[in-house]
Amino acid sequence: MVQAYGITEHSYDVAIVGAGGAGLRAALGMAASGLRTACITKVFPTRSHTVAAQGGMAAALGNMGDGDNWRFHMYDTVKGSDWLGDQDAIEYMCREAVPAVLELEHYGVPFSRTEDGRIYQRPFGGQTLDYGKRMAHRTCAAADRTGHAILHALYQQCLKHATEFFVEYVALDLLMDEEGICRGLLAWSLEDGTLHRFRAHRTVLATGGYGRVYFSCTAAHTCTGDGNAMVLRAGLPLADMEFTQFHPSGIYGSGCLITEGARGEGGYLTNAAGERFMERYAPTAKDLAGRDVVCRAMTIEINEGRGCGPERDHIHLHLEHLGAALLHERLPGIMETAKIFAGIDVTREPIPVLPTVHYNMGGVPTNLHGEVTTLRDGDPKAVVPGLMAIGETACVSVHGANRLGSNSLLDIIVFGRAAAQRVTAMLRPGERHAPLPQAVTDRALARFDRIRWTDGSTGTADIRLEMQRIMQRHCAVFRDGALLDEGAAKLGEVATMLSGDLRITDRSPIFNTDLVEALELDNMMPQAIVSLGSARARTESRGSHAREDYPTRDDGNWLKHTYCWIDHEGGIRIDYRPVHLQPLSNDVASIPPKERTY
Ligand code: FUM
Repeated sequence: MVQAYGITEHSYDVAIVGAGGAGLRAALGMAASGLRTACITKVFPTRSHTVAAQGGMAAALGNMGDGDNWRFHMYDTVKGSDWLGDQDAIEYMCREAVPAVLELEHYGVPFSRTEDGRIYQRPFGGQTLDYGKRMAHRTCAAADRTGHAILHALYQQCLKHATEFFVEYVALDLLMDEEGICRGLLAWSLEDGTLHRFRAHRTVLATGGYGRVYFSCTAAHTCTGDGNAMVLRAGLPLADMEFTQFHPSGIYGSGCLITEGARGEGGYLTNAAGERFMERYAPTAKDLAGRDVVCRAMTIEINEGRGCGPERDHIHLHLEHLGAALLHERLPGIMETAKIFAGIDVTREPIPVLPTVHYNMGGVPTNLHGEVTTLRDGDPKAVVPGLMAIGETACVSVHGANRLGSNSLLDIIVFGRAAAQRVTAMLRPGERHAPLPQAVTDRALARFDRIRWTDGSTGTADIRLEMQRIMQRHCAVFRDGALLDEGAAKLGEVATMLSGDLRITDRSPIFNTDLVEALELDNMMPQAIVSLGSARARTESRGSHAREDYPTRDDGNWLKHTYCWIDHEGGIRIDYRPVHLQPLSNDVASIPPKERTY
Protein backbone atom coordinates (compact mmCIF):
# COMPACT_ATOMS: atom_id res chain seq x y z
CA MET A 1 0.00 0.00 0.00
CA VAL A 2 1.52 3.30 -1.12
CA GLN A 3 1.13 6.20 1.30
CA ALA A 4 -0.50 9.29 -0.25
CA TYR A 5 2.15 11.93 -0.82
CA GLY A 6 1.75 15.37 -2.32
CA ILE A 7 4.16 15.45 -5.24
CA THR A 8 5.63 18.60 -6.75
CA GLU A 9 5.77 18.43 -10.56
CA HIS A 10 8.71 19.63 -12.65
CA SER A 11 9.07 19.64 -16.40
CA TYR A 12 12.49 19.86 -18.09
CA ASP A 13 14.13 18.95 -21.34
CA VAL A 14 16.91 17.17 -19.47
CA ALA A 15 17.32 15.97 -15.89
CA ILE A 16 20.86 15.20 -14.76
CA VAL A 17 21.36 13.22 -11.57
CA GLY A 18 24.66 14.11 -9.92
CA ALA A 19 26.76 17.28 -9.90
CA GLY A 20 30.31 15.94 -10.11
CA GLY A 21 32.53 16.72 -13.08
CA ALA A 22 30.54 14.57 -15.53
CA GLY A 23 27.15 15.92 -14.47
CA LEU A 24 28.32 19.54 -14.50
CA ARG A 25 30.10 19.27 -17.85
CA ALA A 26 26.95 17.77 -19.37
CA ALA A 27 24.70 20.32 -17.68
CA LEU A 28 26.82 23.20 -18.89
CA GLY A 29 26.70 22.06 -22.53
CA MET A 30 22.98 21.39 -22.47
CA ALA A 31 21.99 24.58 -20.66
CA ALA A 32 24.26 26.66 -22.89
CA SER A 33 22.41 25.36 -25.95
CA GLY A 34 19.07 26.55 -24.59
CA LEU A 35 17.71 23.27 -23.20
CA ARG A 36 15.91 23.53 -19.85
CA THR A 37 18.31 21.58 -17.68
CA ALA A 38 17.78 20.40 -14.12
CA CYS A 39 20.67 19.06 -12.05
CA ILE A 40 19.50 16.98 -9.09
CA THR A 41 22.15 16.27 -6.49
CA LYS A 42 22.26 14.80 -3.00
CA VAL A 43 25.21 17.03 -2.01
CA PHE A 44 26.08 20.62 -2.82
CA PRO A 45 27.75 20.53 -6.29
CA THR A 46 31.21 21.57 -5.15
CA ARG A 47 31.15 18.81 -2.50
CA SER A 48 30.72 16.09 -5.15
CA HIS A 49 33.47 13.48 -5.12
CA THR A 50 35.27 14.99 -8.14
CA VAL A 51 36.52 17.57 -5.66
CA ALA A 52 38.81 14.87 -4.23
CA ALA A 53 40.53 14.06 -7.54
CA GLN A 54 44.14 15.04 -7.14
CA GLY A 55 46.79 14.23 -9.73
CA GLY A 56 45.23 15.42 -12.97
CA MET A 57 43.61 14.78 -16.32
CA ALA A 58 45.36 12.97 -19.17
CA ALA A 59 45.59 14.67 -22.59
CA ALA A 60 48.40 14.30 -25.10
CA LEU A 61 49.19 18.02 -25.38
CA GLY A 62 52.95 17.45 -25.52
CA ASN A 63 53.49 20.60 -23.46
CA MET A 64 56.62 19.22 -21.81
CA GLY A 65 58.34 18.88 -25.18
CA ASP A 66 58.14 15.09 -25.24
CA GLY A 67 56.37 14.75 -28.61
CA ASP A 68 53.29 13.09 -27.12
CA ASN A 69 50.25 12.45 -29.32
CA TRP A 70 46.80 10.90 -28.97
CA ARG A 71 47.84 7.64 -30.70
CA PHE A 72 50.33 6.92 -27.91
CA HIS A 73 47.64 7.77 -25.39
CA MET A 74 45.27 5.38 -27.14
CA TYR A 75 47.86 2.60 -27.20
CA ASP A 76 48.58 3.02 -23.47
CA THR A 77 44.88 3.02 -22.60
CA VAL A 78 44.18 -0.15 -24.60
CA LYS A 79 47.17 -1.86 -22.99
CA GLY A 80 46.24 -0.52 -19.55
CA SER A 81 42.73 -1.96 -20.00
CA ASP A 82 44.34 -5.38 -20.58
CA TRP A 83 42.62 -5.29 -23.98
CA LEU A 84 39.10 -5.27 -22.50
CA GLY A 85 38.54 -1.59 -23.40
CA ASP A 86 36.61 -0.90 -26.62
CA GLN A 87 39.07 0.58 -29.10
CA ASP A 88 36.51 2.80 -30.85
CA ALA A 89 35.55 4.46 -27.57
CA ILE A 90 39.20 4.73 -26.50
CA GLU A 91 40.15 6.41 -29.78
CA TYR A 92 37.31 8.87 -29.27
CA MET A 93 38.35 9.67 -25.69
CA CYS A 94 42.05 10.13 -26.45
CA ARG A 95 41.44 12.34 -29.49
CA GLU A 96 38.83 14.46 -27.76
CA ALA A 97 41.07 14.86 -24.69
CA VAL A 98 42.98 17.67 -26.36
CA PRO A 99 40.07 20.03 -27.21
CA ALA A 100 38.30 19.06 -23.97
CA VAL A 101 41.19 20.15 -21.74
CA LEU A 102 41.72 23.38 -23.70
CA GLU A 103 38.03 24.13 -23.26
CA LEU A 104 38.46 23.69 -19.50
CA GLU A 105 41.35 26.11 -19.57
CA HIS A 106 39.09 28.65 -21.27
CA TYR A 107 36.35 28.00 -18.70
CA GLY A 108 38.81 29.19 -16.08
CA VAL A 109 40.44 26.08 -14.61
CA PRO A 110 43.65 27.35 -12.92
CA PHE A 111 46.07 24.69 -14.21
CA SER A 112 49.67 24.75 -12.98
CA ARG A 113 52.01 26.27 -15.57
CA THR A 114 55.32 25.54 -17.23
CA GLU A 115 58.00 28.26 -17.35
CA ASP A 116 56.65 29.41 -20.73
CA GLY A 117 53.04 29.54 -19.53
CA ARG A 118 51.64 26.28 -20.90
CA ILE A 119 49.54 23.79 -18.91
CA TYR A 120 51.93 21.78 -16.70
CA GLN A 121 51.92 18.00 -17.33
CA ARG A 122 53.36 15.25 -15.10
CA PRO A 123 53.97 11.55 -15.74
CA PHE A 124 51.43 9.01 -14.48
CA GLY A 125 51.41 5.23 -14.47
CA GLY A 126 51.36 3.43 -17.80
CA GLN A 127 51.87 6.60 -19.88
CA THR A 128 54.43 6.14 -22.64
CA LEU A 129 55.77 7.56 -25.90
CA ASP A 130 56.41 5.61 -29.08
CA TYR A 131 54.14 2.72 -28.02
CA GLY A 132 55.81 1.80 -24.74
CA LYS A 133 59.39 2.92 -25.34
CA ARG A 134 59.74 5.93 -22.97
CA MET A 135 57.71 7.55 -20.22
CA ALA A 136 55.40 10.40 -21.23
CA HIS A 137 54.37 13.57 -19.37
CA ARG A 138 50.64 13.51 -20.13
CA THR A 139 48.70 14.42 -17.00
CA CYS A 140 47.50 18.04 -16.90
CA ALA A 141 47.59 19.18 -13.29
CA ALA A 142 46.47 21.96 -11.02
CA ALA A 143 49.06 21.11 -8.31
CA ASP A 144 47.43 18.10 -6.60
CA ARG A 145 43.96 19.64 -6.44
CA THR A 146 42.95 19.22 -10.08
CA GLY A 147 39.45 17.86 -9.42
CA HIS A 148 38.76 20.71 -7.03
CA ALA A 149 39.82 23.27 -9.63
CA ILE A 150 37.75 21.66 -12.40
CA LEU A 151 34.63 21.26 -10.28
CA HIS A 152 34.57 24.89 -9.17
CA ALA A 153 35.13 26.23 -12.70
CA LEU A 154 32.35 24.01 -14.10
CA TYR A 155 29.91 24.96 -11.35
CA GLN A 156 30.46 28.64 -12.10
CA GLN A 157 29.94 28.02 -15.81
CA CYS A 158 26.71 26.13 -15.07
CA LEU A 159 25.41 29.06 -13.04
CA LYS A 160 26.32 31.42 -15.85
CA HIS A 161 24.23 29.33 -18.25
CA ALA A 162 21.22 29.04 -15.93
CA THR A 163 21.33 25.37 -15.06
CA GLU A 164 18.68 24.83 -12.38
CA PHE A 165 20.08 23.03 -9.33
CA PHE A 166 18.08 20.93 -6.89
CA VAL A 167 20.52 20.53 -4.03
CA GLU A 168 20.17 17.89 -1.30
CA TYR A 169 17.56 16.07 -3.34
CA VAL A 170 17.91 12.28 -3.15
CA ALA A 171 17.01 10.53 -6.41
CA LEU A 172 14.67 7.67 -5.47
CA ASP A 173 14.04 5.94 -8.78
CA LEU A 174 13.77 6.27 -12.52
CA LEU A 175 10.32 6.66 -14.02
CA MET A 176 10.35 3.87 -16.62
CA ASP A 177 7.12 3.44 -18.58
CA GLU A 178 5.61 0.18 -19.82
CA GLU A 179 7.53 0.45 -23.10
CA GLY A 180 10.87 0.69 -21.30
CA ILE A 181 11.29 4.40 -21.99
CA CYS A 182 12.79 6.53 -19.24
CA ARG A 183 10.52 9.50 -18.58
CA GLY A 184 12.33 11.15 -15.69
CA LEU A 185 12.77 10.44 -12.02
CA LEU A 186 11.29 10.75 -8.57
CA ALA A 187 13.33 12.58 -5.93
CA TRP A 188 13.05 13.45 -2.25
CA SER A 189 14.05 16.88 -0.93
CA LEU A 190 15.87 16.49 2.36
CA GLU A 191 15.37 20.08 3.42
CA ASP A 192 11.59 20.01 3.70
CA GLY A 193 10.72 16.34 3.17
CA THR A 194 8.78 16.92 -0.05
CA LEU A 195 8.69 14.55 -3.04
CA HIS A 196 9.33 15.75 -6.60
CA ARG A 197 8.55 14.24 -9.99
CA PHE A 198 10.95 15.40 -12.68
CA ARG A 199 9.66 14.84 -16.21
CA ALA A 200 12.46 14.90 -18.77
CA HIS A 201 13.08 13.77 -22.34
CA ARG A 202 16.51 12.62 -21.29
CA THR A 203 17.58 11.53 -17.82
CA VAL A 204 21.35 11.50 -17.42
CA LEU A 205 22.87 9.45 -14.61
CA ALA A 206 26.11 10.97 -13.33
CA THR A 207 26.10 9.57 -9.83
CA GLY A 208 29.71 8.32 -9.67
CA GLY A 209 31.02 4.99 -8.46
CA TYR A 210 30.08 2.59 -5.68
CA GLY A 211 33.38 2.38 -3.79
CA ARG A 212 31.58 2.37 -0.44
CA VAL A 213 30.55 -1.22 -1.07
CA TYR A 214 34.05 -1.94 0.34
CA PHE A 215 35.36 -1.40 3.87
CA SER A 216 38.40 0.67 2.88
CA CYS A 217 38.22 3.03 -0.08
CA THR A 218 39.39 6.43 -1.23
CA ALA A 219 35.84 7.39 -2.22
CA ALA A 220 33.57 9.69 -0.24
CA HIS A 221 30.81 8.19 1.93
CA THR A 222 28.38 9.45 -0.71
CA CYS A 223 29.81 7.11 -3.38
CA THR A 224 27.06 4.52 -3.19
CA GLY A 225 26.36 4.02 -6.90
CA ASP A 226 22.78 5.28 -6.72
CA GLY A 227 22.44 5.52 -10.52
CA ASN A 228 23.73 1.98 -11.03
CA ALA A 229 21.17 0.71 -8.54
CA MET A 230 18.32 2.53 -10.27
CA VAL A 231 19.36 0.92 -13.53
CA LEU A 232 19.36 -2.56 -11.96
CA ARG A 233 15.89 -1.93 -10.48
CA ALA A 234 14.70 -0.92 -13.95
CA GLY A 235 15.53 -4.47 -15.08
CA LEU A 236 18.62 -3.38 -17.01
CA PRO A 237 22.14 -4.84 -16.78
CA LEU A 238 25.41 -3.45 -15.43
CA ALA A 239 28.60 -4.25 -17.31
CA ASP A 240 32.05 -5.48 -16.19
CA MET A 241 31.28 -5.19 -12.49
CA GLU A 242 34.03 -7.66 -11.56
CA PHE A 243 36.65 -5.00 -12.29
CA THR A 244 37.29 -2.88 -9.19
CA GLN A 245 40.43 -0.78 -9.14
CA PHE A 246 42.64 -0.61 -6.06
CA HIS A 247 44.89 2.46 -5.84
CA PRO A 248 48.43 1.70 -4.66
CA SER A 249 48.62 4.62 -2.25
CA GLY A 250 45.73 4.83 0.16
CA ILE A 251 47.00 5.94 3.57
CA TYR A 252 47.37 2.90 5.85
CA GLY A 253 44.44 2.96 8.29
CA SER A 254 42.30 5.79 6.93
CA GLY A 255 42.33 4.90 3.21
CA CYS A 256 42.74 8.59 2.22
CA LEU A 257 44.21 9.07 -1.25
CA ILE A 258 47.84 10.02 -1.82
CA THR A 259 47.95 10.88 -5.50
CA GLU A 260 49.81 8.77 -8.06
CA GLY A 261 51.21 12.18 -9.00
CA ALA A 262 53.47 11.70 -5.97
CA ARG A 263 55.19 8.85 -7.84
CA GLY A 264 54.90 10.87 -11.06
CA GLU A 265 57.00 13.58 -9.42
CA GLY A 266 59.63 11.01 -8.41
CA GLY A 267 58.29 9.25 -5.29
CA TYR A 268 58.90 5.52 -4.88
CA LEU A 269 57.75 2.51 -2.84
CA THR A 270 59.86 0.33 -0.55
CA ASN A 271 59.31 -2.81 1.52
CA ALA A 272 60.54 -3.54 5.07
CA ALA A 273 64.08 -4.09 3.82
CA GLY A 274 64.08 -0.65 2.20
CA GLU A 275 64.12 -2.34 -1.22
CA ARG A 276 62.56 -0.61 -4.24
CA PHE A 277 60.69 -3.82 -5.04
CA MET A 278 58.84 -2.50 -8.11
CA GLU A 279 62.11 -2.92 -10.03
CA ARG A 280 61.54 -6.68 -9.79
CA TYR A 281 57.91 -6.60 -10.95
CA ALA A 282 58.06 -3.89 -13.64
CA PRO A 283 61.71 -3.36 -14.66
CA THR A 284 61.00 -0.50 -17.09
CA ALA A 285 58.12 1.51 -15.61
CA LYS A 286 58.87 0.49 -12.00
CA ASP A 287 56.65 2.53 -9.62
CA LEU A 288 54.76 3.94 -12.61
CA ALA A 289 53.45 0.62 -13.93
CA GLY A 290 49.67 0.13 -14.23
CA ARG A 291 47.85 0.35 -10.90
CA ASP A 292 46.78 -3.28 -10.96
CA VAL A 293 50.41 -4.34 -11.43
CA VAL A 294 51.64 -2.14 -8.56
CA CYS A 295 48.85 -3.27 -6.21
CA ARG A 296 49.54 -6.95 -6.87
CA ALA A 297 53.25 -6.39 -6.23
CA MET A 298 52.53 -4.59 -2.94
CA THR A 299 50.14 -7.35 -1.84
CA ILE A 300 52.69 -10.06 -2.66
CA GLU A 301 55.40 -8.21 -0.69
CA ILE A 302 53.11 -8.04 2.34
CA ASN A 303 51.83 -11.62 1.97
CA GLU A 304 55.41 -12.93 1.76
CA GLY A 305 56.42 -11.17 4.99
CA ARG A 306 58.21 -8.14 3.55
CA GLY A 307 55.64 -5.55 4.63
CA CYS A 308 56.64 -2.54 6.78
CA GLY A 309 55.78 -1.74 10.40
CA PRO A 310 55.42 -3.95 13.48
CA GLU A 311 52.63 -5.95 11.80
CA ARG A 312 54.49 -6.09 8.47
CA ASP A 313 51.20 -5.05 6.88
CA HIS A 314 51.91 -1.99 4.73
CA ILE A 315 54.39 -0.39 2.30
CA HIS A 316 56.35 2.87 2.47
CA LEU A 317 55.96 5.69 -0.06
CA HIS A 318 59.02 7.96 -0.08
CA LEU A 319 58.89 11.64 -1.04
CA GLU A 320 61.58 12.98 1.35
CA HIS A 321 64.23 13.09 -1.39
CA LEU A 322 62.12 15.43 -3.56
CA GLY A 323 62.80 18.39 -1.29
CA ALA A 324 60.43 20.77 0.47
CA ALA A 325 60.30 23.35 -2.34
CA LEU A 326 59.04 20.92 -5.00
CA LEU A 327 56.63 19.28 -2.55
CA HIS A 328 55.12 22.63 -1.56
CA GLU A 329 54.71 23.66 -5.19
CA ARG A 330 53.44 20.43 -6.77
CA LEU A 331 51.99 18.33 -3.94
CA PRO A 332 50.71 20.70 -1.22
CA GLY A 333 47.42 18.85 -0.74
CA ILE A 334 48.92 15.47 0.03
CA MET A 335 51.47 17.05 2.42
CA GLU A 336 48.50 18.22 4.44
CA THR A 337 46.62 14.92 4.08
CA ALA A 338 49.65 12.90 5.22
CA LYS A 339 50.06 15.18 8.25
CA ILE A 340 46.42 14.97 9.29
CA PHE A 341 45.70 11.31 8.56
CA ALA A 342 49.09 9.67 9.21
CA GLY A 343 50.90 12.22 11.39
CA ILE A 344 53.69 12.25 8.78
CA ASP A 345 55.90 15.15 7.66
CA VAL A 346 56.57 14.00 4.09
CA THR A 347 59.73 16.09 3.85
CA ARG A 348 61.27 13.83 6.52
CA GLU A 349 59.68 10.38 6.57
CA PRO A 350 57.84 7.92 4.28
CA ILE A 351 54.05 7.60 4.20
CA PRO A 352 52.60 4.19 5.18
CA VAL A 353 50.34 3.11 2.31
CA LEU A 354 48.19 0.16 1.22
CA PRO A 355 46.24 -0.78 -1.94
CA THR A 356 42.81 0.78 -1.37
CA VAL A 357 39.60 0.56 -3.42
CA HIS A 358 39.52 3.58 -5.69
CA TYR A 359 37.48 3.18 -8.87
CA ASN A 360 34.85 1.06 -10.59
CA MET A 361 35.64 0.20 -14.19
CA GLY A 362 32.19 -1.41 -14.48
CA GLY A 363 28.85 0.34 -14.53
CA VAL A 364 25.95 1.23 -16.80
CA PRO A 365 26.75 0.19 -20.39
CA THR A 366 26.60 3.09 -22.83
CA ASN A 367 27.62 3.99 -26.35
CA LEU A 368 30.07 6.81 -26.84
CA HIS A 369 27.29 9.41 -26.87
CA GLY A 370 26.39 8.47 -23.30
CA GLU A 371 23.18 6.67 -24.29
CA VAL A 372 22.45 3.65 -22.11
CA THR A 373 22.58 0.37 -24.00
CA THR A 374 21.54 -3.18 -23.24
CA LEU A 375 21.76 -6.62 -24.81
CA ARG A 376 18.37 -7.18 -26.40
CA ASP A 377 17.27 -9.82 -28.94
CA GLY A 378 20.84 -10.44 -30.01
CA ASP A 379 21.51 -6.71 -30.47
CA PRO A 380 24.51 -5.73 -28.27
CA LYS A 381 23.96 -2.02 -28.83
CA ALA A 382 20.22 -1.63 -28.21
CA VAL A 383 19.65 1.89 -26.84
CA VAL A 384 17.36 2.39 -23.82
CA PRO A 385 15.23 5.37 -24.88
CA GLY A 386 15.42 8.46 -22.69
CA LEU A 387 18.23 7.21 -20.46
CA MET A 388 21.90 8.24 -20.45
CA ALA A 389 24.87 7.64 -18.14
CA ILE A 390 28.27 9.32 -17.94
CA GLY A 391 31.41 9.36 -15.81
CA GLU A 392 32.18 6.61 -13.33
CA THR A 393 28.52 5.53 -13.45
CA ALA A 394 28.99 4.51 -17.08
CA CYS A 395 30.91 1.68 -18.69
CA VAL A 396 31.56 2.96 -22.22
CA SER A 397 33.99 0.97 -22.06
CA VAL A 398 37.20 3.01 -22.15
CA HIS A 399 38.88 1.52 -19.08
CA GLY A 400 38.26 -2.17 -19.65
CA ALA A 401 39.81 -4.28 -16.91
CA ASN A 402 42.06 -1.55 -15.47
CA ARG A 403 41.89 2.23 -15.75
CA LEU A 404 45.05 4.29 -16.15
CA GLY A 405 45.49 7.06 -13.61
CA SER A 406 44.22 10.47 -14.81
CA ASN A 407 41.96 8.89 -17.43
CA SER A 408 39.08 9.36 -15.00
CA LEU A 409 38.96 13.16 -14.98
CA LEU A 410 39.38 12.80 -18.72
CA ASP A 411 36.46 10.38 -19.03
CA ILE A 412 34.08 12.60 -17.05
CA ILE A 413 34.90 15.66 -19.15
CA VAL A 414 34.98 13.99 -22.57
CA PHE A 415 31.80 11.98 -22.09
CA GLY A 416 29.96 14.75 -20.21
CA ARG A 417 30.71 16.90 -23.25
CA ALA A 418 29.73 14.12 -25.68
CA ALA A 419 26.40 13.64 -23.90
CA ALA A 420 25.71 17.36 -24.14
CA GLN A 421 26.52 17.35 -27.86
CA ARG A 422 24.23 14.36 -28.43
CA VAL A 423 21.27 15.79 -26.54
CA THR A 424 21.70 19.17 -28.18
CA ALA A 425 21.61 17.50 -31.59
CA MET A 426 18.58 15.32 -30.78
CA LEU A 427 16.25 17.58 -28.76
CA ARG A 428 14.51 20.86 -29.40
CA PRO A 429 13.96 23.02 -26.29
CA GLY A 430 10.49 22.88 -24.77
CA GLU A 431 9.03 19.76 -26.43
CA ARG A 432 5.84 18.49 -24.76
CA HIS A 433 5.86 15.51 -22.42
CA ALA A 434 3.51 12.60 -23.03
CA PRO A 435 1.15 11.62 -20.17
CA LEU A 436 2.70 9.38 -17.53
CA PRO A 437 0.62 6.60 -15.95
CA GLN A 438 0.38 6.93 -12.14
CA ALA A 439 1.55 3.33 -11.74
CA VAL A 440 5.02 4.38 -12.88
CA THR A 441 5.37 6.79 -9.96
CA ASP A 442 3.70 4.37 -7.53
CA ARG A 443 6.42 1.78 -8.11
CA ALA A 444 9.08 4.26 -7.02
CA LEU A 445 6.99 5.36 -4.05
CA ALA A 446 6.46 1.77 -2.95
CA ARG A 447 10.19 1.26 -2.46
CA PHE A 448 10.52 4.53 -0.54
CA ASP A 449 7.65 3.55 1.75
CA ARG A 450 8.91 0.00 2.24
CA ILE A 451 12.21 1.28 3.57
CA ARG A 452 10.79 4.26 5.46
CA TRP A 453 8.36 2.12 7.45
CA THR A 454 10.47 -1.03 7.80
CA ASP A 455 10.32 -2.48 11.30
CA GLY A 456 13.14 -4.99 11.79
CA SER A 457 15.83 -5.23 14.44
CA THR A 458 19.19 -4.66 12.66
CA GLY A 459 20.46 -1.16 11.98
CA THR A 460 21.78 0.06 8.64
CA ALA A 461 25.34 0.53 9.95
CA ASP A 462 25.58 -3.11 11.10
CA ILE A 463 24.33 -4.56 7.82
CA ARG A 464 26.52 -2.18 5.81
CA LEU A 465 29.62 -3.12 7.79
CA GLU A 466 28.98 -6.82 7.17
CA MET A 467 28.61 -6.21 3.43
CA GLN A 468 31.78 -4.09 3.33
CA ARG A 469 33.82 -6.67 5.23
CA ILE A 470 32.66 -9.46 2.93
CA MET A 471 33.63 -7.49 -0.17
CA GLN A 472 36.99 -6.51 1.31
CA ARG A 473 37.80 -10.11 2.23
CA HIS A 474 36.28 -12.02 -0.67
CA CYS A 475 36.59 -9.72 -3.70
CA ALA A 476 39.92 -7.92 -3.24
CA VAL A 477 43.20 -7.62 -5.17
CA PHE A 478 43.52 -11.43 -5.43
CA ARG A 479 40.50 -13.73 -5.65
CA ASP A 480 39.85 -17.42 -6.19
CA GLY A 481 36.79 -19.57 -6.76
CA ALA A 482 36.43 -20.85 -3.20
CA LEU A 483 36.85 -17.38 -1.70
CA LEU A 484 34.32 -15.89 -4.11
CA ASP A 485 31.81 -18.71 -3.54
CA GLU A 486 32.05 -18.28 0.22
CA GLY A 487 31.68 -14.51 -0.20
CA ALA A 488 28.57 -14.92 -2.35
CA ALA A 489 26.95 -17.20 0.24
CA LYS A 490 27.69 -14.76 3.07
CA LEU A 491 26.50 -11.81 1.02
CA GLY A 492 23.23 -13.64 0.34
CA GLU A 493 22.63 -13.89 4.09
CA VAL A 494 23.37 -10.20 4.62
CA ALA A 495 21.08 -9.25 1.73
CA THR A 496 18.30 -11.29 3.36
CA MET A 497 18.90 -9.37 6.58
CA LEU A 498 18.56 -6.11 4.66
CA SER A 499 15.31 -7.07 2.99
CA GLY A 500 13.76 -8.72 6.05
CA ASP A 501 15.18 -7.25 9.24
CA LEU A 502 16.24 -3.64 8.64
CA ARG A 503 15.53 -1.21 11.48
CA ILE A 504 14.76 2.46 10.87
CA THR A 505 14.41 4.63 13.96
CA ASP A 506 13.59 7.98 12.36
CA ARG A 507 10.36 8.08 10.29
CA SER A 508 10.38 11.83 9.61
CA PRO A 509 10.66 12.90 5.99
CA ILE A 510 12.77 15.95 6.89
CA PHE A 511 16.57 15.64 6.77
CA ASN A 512 16.30 12.02 7.81
CA THR A 513 19.88 10.74 7.47
CA ASP A 514 18.85 7.39 8.95
CA LEU A 515 16.58 6.90 5.94
CA VAL A 516 19.15 8.28 3.47
CA GLU A 517 21.71 5.73 4.64
CA ALA A 518 19.18 2.91 4.46
CA LEU A 519 18.27 3.89 0.89
CA GLU A 520 21.97 4.04 0.00
CA LEU A 521 22.56 0.60 1.49
CA ASP A 522 19.58 -0.72 -0.46
CA ASN A 523 21.35 0.71 -3.53
CA MET A 524 24.75 -0.78 -2.69
CA MET A 525 23.70 -4.33 -1.86
CA PRO A 526 22.65 -5.36 -5.40
CA GLN A 527 25.86 -3.85 -6.78
CA ALA A 528 27.89 -5.94 -4.34
CA ILE A 529 25.98 -9.07 -5.41
CA VAL A 530 26.43 -8.34 -9.10
CA SER A 531 30.16 -7.58 -8.64
CA LEU A 532 30.81 -10.84 -6.80
CA GLY A 533 28.66 -12.80 -9.23
CA SER A 534 30.46 -11.36 -12.26
CA ALA A 535 33.84 -12.12 -10.62
CA ARG A 536 32.83 -15.73 -9.91
CA ALA A 537 31.86 -16.23 -13.53
CA ARG A 538 35.08 -14.86 -15.10
CA THR A 539 37.53 -17.76 -14.92
CA GLU A 540 40.66 -15.92 -16.03
CA SER A 541 42.91 -13.11 -14.75
CA ARG A 542 42.74 -9.77 -16.53
CA GLY A 543 43.60 -6.29 -15.24
CA SER A 544 42.24 -5.74 -11.76
CA HIS A 545 40.55 -9.17 -11.72
CA ALA A 546 43.38 -11.44 -10.51
CA ARG A 547 42.22 -15.02 -9.91
CA GLU A 548 44.75 -17.23 -8.20
CA ASP A 549 42.98 -20.31 -9.54
CA TYR A 550 43.07 -18.95 -13.13
CA PRO A 551 46.29 -16.90 -13.13
CA THR A 552 46.55 -16.12 -16.86
CA ARG A 553 44.58 -14.03 -19.30
CA ASP A 554 42.46 -16.16 -21.63
CA ASP A 555 41.70 -14.19 -24.80
CA GLY A 556 40.24 -17.26 -26.48
CA ASN A 557 37.33 -17.40 -24.07
CA TRP A 558 37.20 -14.10 -22.24
CA LEU A 559 37.83 -11.22 -24.63
CA LYS A 560 34.27 -10.11 -23.85
CA HIS A 561 32.29 -7.80 -21.58
CA THR A 562 30.16 -9.18 -18.77
CA TYR A 563 26.54 -8.01 -18.55
CA CYS A 564 24.77 -8.83 -15.29
CA TRP A 565 21.10 -8.45 -14.31
CA ILE A 566 19.58 -9.00 -10.86
CA ASP A 567 15.98 -9.94 -9.98
CA HIS A 568 13.88 -8.92 -6.97
CA GLU A 569 15.04 -12.00 -5.03
CA GLY A 570 18.72 -11.21 -5.59
CA GLY A 571 19.19 -13.86 -8.30
CA ILE A 572 21.57 -12.85 -11.07
CA ARG A 573 21.70 -13.57 -14.81
CA ILE A 574 24.86 -13.10 -16.87
CA ASP A 575 25.47 -12.64 -20.59
CA TYR A 576 28.38 -11.32 -22.63
CA ARG A 577 29.21 -9.18 -25.64
CA PRO A 578 32.48 -9.10 -27.61
CA VAL A 579 35.08 -6.37 -27.10
CA HIS A 580 35.28 -3.82 -29.94
CA LEU A 581 38.79 -4.38 -31.28
CA GLN A 582 38.31 -1.99 -34.22
CA PRO A 583 39.04 1.72 -33.73
CA LEU A 584 36.60 4.42 -34.73
CA SER A 585 38.48 5.74 -37.76
CA ASN A 586 41.11 4.77 -40.29
CA ASP A 587 43.54 7.22 -38.69
CA VAL A 588 44.85 4.49 -36.44
CA ALA A 589 45.18 0.70 -36.65
CA SER A 590 43.60 -1.84 -34.31
CA ILE A 591 45.94 -2.73 -31.43
CA PRO A 592 46.02 -6.53 -31.27
CA PRO A 593 46.18 -8.24 -27.85
CA LYS A 594 49.64 -9.18 -26.61
CA GLU A 595 51.34 -9.88 -23.31
CA ARG A 596 51.11 -6.91 -20.96
CA THR A 597 54.42 -6.03 -19.34
CA TYR A 598 55.79 -2.74 -17.98
O1 FUM B 1 46.25 9.33 -7.90
C1 FUM B 1 45.46 10.15 -8.33
O2 FUM B 1 45.67 11.35 -8.36
C2 FUM B 1 44.20 9.63 -8.89
C3 FUM B 1 43.91 9.87 -10.16
C4 FUM B 1 42.96 9.01 -10.87
O3 FUM B 1 42.41 8.09 -10.28
O4 FUM B 1 42.77 9.22 -12.06
